[in-house]
This record gives sequence, C-alpha cells and structure tokens, in this order.
Amino acid sequence: MSSKRQILVTNALPYANAALHLGHILEYTQTDVWVRFQRMRGHECYYVSADDAHGTAIMLKADEKGISAEQHIADMRAIHEADFRDFLISVDNYHSTHSEENRQLSELIYNRLNDNGHIAKRDITQAFDPEKQLFLADRYIKGTCPKCKAEDQYGDNCEVCGATYAPTDLINPVSAISGATPIEKESTHYFFKLPEFTEFLQDWTRSGTLQQEVANKLGEWLDSGLQEWDISRDAPYFGFEIPNAPGKYFYVWLDAPIGYMAAFKHLCDQSNIDFDQYWREDSPAELYHFIGKDIVNFHALFWPAMLKSANYRRPTKVCVHGFVTVNGKKMSKSRGTFINARCYLDHLNPEYLRYYYAAKLSNSVEDIDLNLEDFVQKVNSDLVGKVVNIASRCAKFVTNGNNGQLSANIEDPQLWQQVIGAADQIAAHYENRDYGKAIREIMAQADAANEYIAAKEPWKLNKVEGQQQQVQDICSLGINLFRVILGYLKPVLPEMAAAGEQFLNDSLDWDALQQPLVEHKINAFKPLMQRIEKEKVDAMVEASKQEAAQAAAKPLQGPLADEPIADEINFDDFIKVDLRVAQIIKASHVEGAEKLLQLTLDIGGETRNVFSGIKSSYKPEALEGRLTVMVANLAPRKMRFGISEGMVLAAGDGKGIYLLEPDSGAQPGQRVT
Ligand code: MSP
Ligand code: ZN
Repeated sequence: MSSKRQILVTNALPYANAALHLGHILEYTQTDVWVRFQRMRGHECYYVSADDAHGTAIMLKADEKGISAEQHIADMRAIHEADFRDFLISVDNYHSTHSEENRQLSELIYNRLNDNGHIAKRDITQAFDPEKQLFLADRYIKGTCPKCKAEDQYGDNCEVCGATYAPTDLINPVSAISGATPIEKESTHYFFKLPEFTEFLQDWTRSGTLQQEVANKLGEWLDSGLQEWDISRDAPYFGFEIPNAPGKYFYVWLDAPIGYMAAFKHLCDQSNIDFDQYWREDSPAELYHFIGKDIVNFHALFWPAMLKSANYRRPTKVCVHGFVTVNGKKMSKSRGTFINARCYLDHLNPEYLRYYYAAKLSNSVEDIDLNLEDFVQKVNSDLVGKVVNIASRCAKFVTNGNNGQLSANIEDPQLWQQVIGAADQIAAHYENRDYGKAIREIMAQADAANEYIAAKEPWKLNKVEGQQQQVQDICSLGINLFRVILGYLKPVLPEMAAAGEQFLNDSLDWDALQQPLVEHKINAFKPLMQRIEKEKVDAMVEASKQEAAQAAAKPLQGPLADEPIADEINFDDFIKVDLRVAQIIKASHVEGAEKLLQLTLDIGGETRNVFSGIKSSYKPEALEGRLTVMVANLAPRKMRFGISEGMVLAAGDGKGIYLLEPDSGAQPGQRVT
C-alpha cells in the first residue's frame, strides 16, 4: 500500500434554520463513505462539519419563534447532530460557525486580506424596510411582476412567467418581512477584491482541483469578468462584527467556509492534532471539500482566493455532486417526497439509503434520482438477495457440521483469486468517488459467489455419505467470499459490517481481506439485514405529506401562542374593528392554493367571500353551517385567487388551527364586542 496520507475532509455546513432532508443526506453519505474508505485503508483522515449559524434568515427564524438566535441555533444543532449520528455519519467533530474559534479565525483572515489591500470600502444604495429597520436582500422583497402582472412575486424573478428583473422594477414592492413599502437607503459596504485573483483562479480551477464540467462552468464566469464581492452586512445581523467597523457584520458566506477551519481547530485543541500541519501554505496534508452544485462559486472562487491572500493552503479538491430528485421530480411537499431525515429514520434503516445512494453516485455533477420503487427492489435484491444470502446458505453447515470451524483449504482457488483480485479496482472507484462502479463490481463478485454455491449444492451433498469434508470446504469458501464482499461494502454499510464482524469473529480491514480465514472459528449466524417492506416506504411518504401540511399551517394570520403581547391600544382603537357573528354557508377548496379555503359567510342578510388559511385543519364539508366570528370592516384584499372581503378569527399554535365559535343562540350579523 502507498504511504500513509494525511487527509482533512469537510461537507457543506447545513444552515441552522431548517431540518435536514434526504437531499442533504446524499452529500453526507457521499462524504462519509469516502472518509470511512480512507480510514479503512489506514490513512489519517479527519472529518469535520458544523452548523452554518449566521445570517438574516436565521435571525428572522428566531424572531418568529420568539427566542434568541443563540437558543435557536443551539436547538437546531442538537437536531442536526442527532440526524448525522443516526445516518451513521462519522464526523470527528461537529461544530458551529457561531463559535469562538470561528470568530478569531474570521477576524484574522479578514485582517490579512485588509493588510494586503484586498478589501475595498464604498457606499451602496439598497432597499430598506423602514418598519423593521432592516436592509432587504432581494428575496425579502415581493410585489407584482412588471411583465405579466402576477402578484406576490419574490425578489428578482417571477415564478409565473420566468422574467428576471431588479427588485426595484417590481410594481407595488413590499417587504416580505413586515409588509411595509421599502425605501432606498445608502450605507457603507466592504468588498473583497476578487478580480485581482483572476489569473490565480484561472490556474487553480484548471489544476485538477475540480471536475472538468465544473472547471468549464467556472471558466465561463472567469472569462466574463469577476466582480468585487460584498462581504459586509449592516446591523441588525446575526453574525460577527467586522473589526474596526462598528455596526458592520461579516456576510454569512464569509465566515461559513472559515467554519471548516474552526471546526478542525476545535478538534485539534481537544485531540492534540497539529492545526498548522493541515493549513499552512505549504502543507503536505490533503484537504477535500464535498459540496453541492449550487455553492460552487463560494468554494472554487471566493474561498481559494481568500486562502491565498491570507496565506493558507488551498483545497486539494472540491468535490461537487448533483441534486436529489425523488421519483424523477424535484422533491415536493404536496407529493410527500420532500422527506426529512428524521422522517426517514422513523420508518426505515439508514443503511438502505446509504446503499442506494452509493449505488447511484458517480463523480459527476448529474442529479441523482431516488426512485422509491427501485429503492425497495434494489436494496432487497442486492443486499438481502445477494450478499446476506451467501452467508445464510453456508453458515449452518459450518456451525452444525464442524462446530463453527472453517476448513483449512480453499475449495476453488481460482474463484478466491478472482474475488480478492477485485480489491484494487474497487479501491480505485471509491477513491475516485465512483461509488456506483464500485458497487457494480462488488455485486458482480457476489453473483459469482452465489453461482458457485448454487452449482455445488452443499445442501444435497450434505446428505451423501462421505461428502462431509467437501461440504465444509464449499461452505467455508462461501463464508470467506462473503467476508471479502462485506469488507468491500464496509465504508457504505458500517453497521451491517459490524454485525458481520461479530459473526465472522474477525475485523474487516482492507488489506487483511487478501488472506482467507482458515481453521478459524466463526459465531452463530444471525440475519444481517431485513428486507425493506414497501408499506414502510408508503407510510414515510404519507407522514411527509402530513408534516408539510402542518408546517404550512404555521403562517396563519392569528398570533402564535408564544408570541409576545402586542403594543397597548385604547378603546377607541379597539372599537374600530367591527367583529360580527358569521355563518359559514359554503366552504370549498381553492385550486392551486396550499393553505387556503374559500368561505362564503352570511353576516345577517349580507354575504362575504373570504379566503382563510385553515385548510390544514378543516375539511370544507365540516365547516358548512357553522358559526364563527369575522372582521367585517377589513379593507378588501386582492389575493392571487380573488378578493378576500374580511377575515375569520382563529387561534393557532403552529400545530393546529382552531376556529372561533360563539355559544349557541348567537345570530349571524350580531356585533361582537
Ligand atoms: N450553509 C450553506 C453551506 C455553507 S458551506 C461553508 C448551505 N447550506 S444548505 O443547508 O443549504 O445546504 C447544505 C448542502 O446540502 C449543500 O452542499 C447543498 O448543495 C446540499 N443540498 C441541499 N439540497 C440538496 C438536494 N436536494 N440534493 C443534494 N444536495 C442538496 O448551502
Ligand atoms: Zn411574471
């Protein structure tokens, strides 16, 4: 084997504002398989990750929940860590970008960029929410599309007609956060002078650090000219304040990749590892970043340029993967194919998915389809039907016939040579992140082992006088072949491999697989993996649908239970709100609306049309005839589906919605005070 390598591996740091879903799990599986493979080969391989805890979205999410940003990111981190653990992701350290290590490193790197003259400072004009006192990124502004006039379109592109525009082109733009009309406001921003690194990046992106297709894409950007990168954000912002720039914060994407270093630093401090050995300019160690195709510019332009200016080593490779689709389509909440990591774990064994993803992964950036039928079929046929089958057909003869003692000789040396001879090719595929090819090669060897056993029929021979030794030799080879095959799969299936190690009474090390177990005692066989039941997959999809519906019920017009009480008003303010008892005379679904029901309300001789976000908790039929309370003098609101003439009152706590109902005897049209 080649000499011992020193490798540091990272995956993209998940944002601390959402749960992990099966798209994330693709990346973490891809990374983990590679890391486990390197460790199995005897290399020193550290794997670090962290939550990406900064930015406006996280600040707003904490606000919405009524908790501090620190509390929110602590909660999310615990959830993410549990998901990682249960998907058998073997990180050596899981940290947070909101950490002391990251603050120090971010300041240090920024100061170096600044000292080198790579930071520019100038005033820019931006949209500003006068109510929330917050600068608004494009995605926080919505309004009417200037082209097709569709309402409620976000930021810089229209979901209806596909037009792209500047947020200032929107008709009637409003802040998506407060609903206020944004104003233009000037403020000083700090920029990283990326164009000065053009030549360096032209070389770096072509030096074998990237997949060809990724390098080509970046080549287009490099040719069309790089822009200076805005690395500052104004307060209020959840992040690190920029040194000597009060009220200015590092943009989340500045300190996020530095979070890789910080997570490693934290590990080094605990475990006595030499940080500089891995990060100094001329480090002999290797550095691998695994990321998705949506964040390539951050990792293959900004990041290497920052590292160069700050005098740190650059990544050995940035490994880019495509996106997960489910059943051939983008993951969808309404179809139940937007599946959260935890929801999967509640229904299915993580190794099924690890295996399926591995079987589909290559080193290209193509998207990967999780076809749920194929998933069931492939896992059952490969893992249960092929791999486990080898052991289950042979074990009992050795256990019962020879007290668990494997034979001294190899019954078919040619077959044995063939199966162990595949090791280098399989290793090359793993190294190259061509896991699909590795799996195909491994399954070809499993097929060969099964064919051998089927042809030799030890179960028949066992009944023939004088053939007992032959039966032992055949089944011992079968078990040895199983051992090699399971060893090859160990980076993908760590738990199944551990159960196999217990059965084989041996630890599966890559190099040791070349030597068969002879005259070696094995333990009693227990099935190493159960078949996937299709019903469990269906139940998972159903549960995902329900989770999505519940989450959609959250942004109800009513206050959340844990929301603070609003500012005091006087009686005159209150009496302006005309509340009436209303009878729901008709309720129906709204074509294309996720949350809304359309209600026809009788308020004593007058009817009103109201759209209400209560679909997740009420069936329309169940509402007809019921009494409730409505705001009768609310200005009509034009919505995508029509005009809403008022609002019904309901309580909501993010889990359920509870429509208000007067006691019996109340009459439609009566005023409520
Ligand atoms: N926080 C940033 C990364 C900072 S790295 C210094 C981020 N977070 S993320 O949570 O949105 O995404 C984390 C990783 O998951 C990214 O590499 C992203 O490409 C990947 N995926 C998110 N959705 C995905 C799929 N549907 N399919 C495959 N990977 C996907 O980006
Ligand atoms: Zn449009």
